[in-house]
Amino acid sequence: MEGERKQRVTCYLLFSVSVVVIGSLQFGYNTGVINAPEQKLRAFFNETWMERYNETISPGVVTVIWSFSVAVFSVGGMAGSFSVGVMADTFGRRKSMLMGNILALIGAGLMGFSAFCNSFEMVIAGRLVIGLFCGLCTGLTPMYIGEVAPTSLRGAFGTLHQLGVVIGILVAQIFGLEGLLGSDKLWPLLLAMTALPAVLQCVLLPFCPESPRYLLIKLNQEEEAQKALLRLRGTDDVSEDMQEMKEESLKMAMEKKVTIPELFRTPAYRQPIIIAIMLQLSQQLSGINAVFYYSTGIFESAGVTKPIYATIGAGIVNTVFTVVSLFLVERAGRRTLHLIGLGGMAVSALLMTIALLLKQFPSLSYLSIVAVFAFVAMFEMGPGPIPWFIVAELFSQGPRPAAMAVAGCSNWTANFLVGISFPKLVEWCGPYVFIIFMIFLIIFFVFTFFYVPETKGRTFDEIARGFSGTASTSATAPPAEGAVTLPASPSKEKVPLV
Ligand code: GLC
Repeated sequence: MEGERKQRVTCYLLFSVSVVVIGSLQFGYNTGVINAPEQKLRAFFNETWMERYNETISPGVVTVIWSFSVAVFSVGGMAGSFSVGVMADTFGRRKSMLMGNILALIGAGLMGFSAFCNSFEMVIAGRLVIGLFCGLCTGLTPMYIGEVAPTSLRGAFGTLHQLGVVIGILVAQIFGLEGLLGSDKLWPLLLAMTALPAVLQCVLLPFCPESPRYLLIKLNQEEEAQKALLRLRGTDDVSEDMQEMKEESLKMAMEKKVTIPELFRTPAYRQPIIIAIMLQLSQQLSGINAVFYYSTGIFESAGVTKPIYATIGAGIVNTVFTVVSLFLVERAGRRTLHLIGLGGMAVSALLMTIALLLKQFPSLSYLSIVAVFAFVAMFEMGPGPIPWFIVAELFSQGPRPAAMAVAGCSNWTANFLVGISFPKLVEWCGPYVFIIFMIFLIIFFVFTFFYVPETKGRTFDEIARGFSGTASTSATAPPAEGAVTLPASPSKEKVPLV
């Protein structure tokens, strides 16, 4: 039985996962870092322009350059996440992460020396390169963690990626304070700080093993895979893990290589890829980054006097609730937590609307803080961590890299759309802007309720078999209560097993 699979957590496993999670930290840091120094960067754009062309820049152009510096990060993210499949398969998970750090160093260098070189273009180029790097991180990190984690703890380990992200955001918010690195002089250093974790990860990664699944299933290096597993599991018997991987490998050898178009064409993959994309969209179209990119402005318009502290408060709530989810995910399951999160966010979005409508009553400004905190807390219960790691769970080794690429790219595209359109939406909808997110949240709640299966405690193969409609054996866990599958694929369209 799945529940009885007891797998140990060793120091070496924790070490390897922590090293990899430095990539998640980088993603969070670069997501959160650009907010605080907004005014400093605008002033810098102005000065450079002045020095170069001897005339002041119009506020409209400054805003364009500013929005571009923010959004180009997601453009890089889309490209980076899309390359994950090819990179992970060609170079392996570990080497790809090592190579990614070169991008982090280039990005940090460009942004760090931008003031020295009087070039705002370097800020934009740096954000693009850092985005590329972060796009890679959002695919490679959850993939590696999913592949090395013991089945019974895959959700808790998967949540560590999100924990890295939220800690990164919080650190960026704190470092960005005027009294620390968010000052007139030090903002380039604030942006360049991302080089430090990159160096640290480069030093430590060689001590981590390559993913045993990659070694066995992709490279066919059984001995190497076993060696890595023995160290990760800390036992001298990894036969059960090896057996499970071999079964997956055998199945894969019978499947042809899965390309991205095939993910959509093959009925056995179509259902999980739709679920994966919808879950990524539910994460971003929930409006979470409207809060993380623009919370200071939201608090201001709701009449909060010291908005920056409310923003940091949101970062703290964000971190605390990710830890709560970490402990709940193996008990409550992914599906339940995702539903609770989406539902809770929808209620909070309504609360936020009420808070923004009642801003003429100053004593009610705290309501907006309560609403934002609840919104963020509910996000981290499910929609924050789960979409990132569930994609690795929904697919077996063959289609996994392609699926991670598609899912990651959907996430970044939606992230870009929310980031770029939120200020305009605020102009159009005023205090009602969060109603848009509320509607999305309700739609995703309904989708999750009907279509998302529970993956807790099931092996990759068992989950994949659930989708392909293969006659299930006792090893295949039944779908969660209330979950129905998308229209069953006719058996003749199943992945051809030669
Ligand atoms: C998730 C999202 C990211 C967001 C963060 C907030 O990792 O992917 O876009 O900023 O959560 O905690």
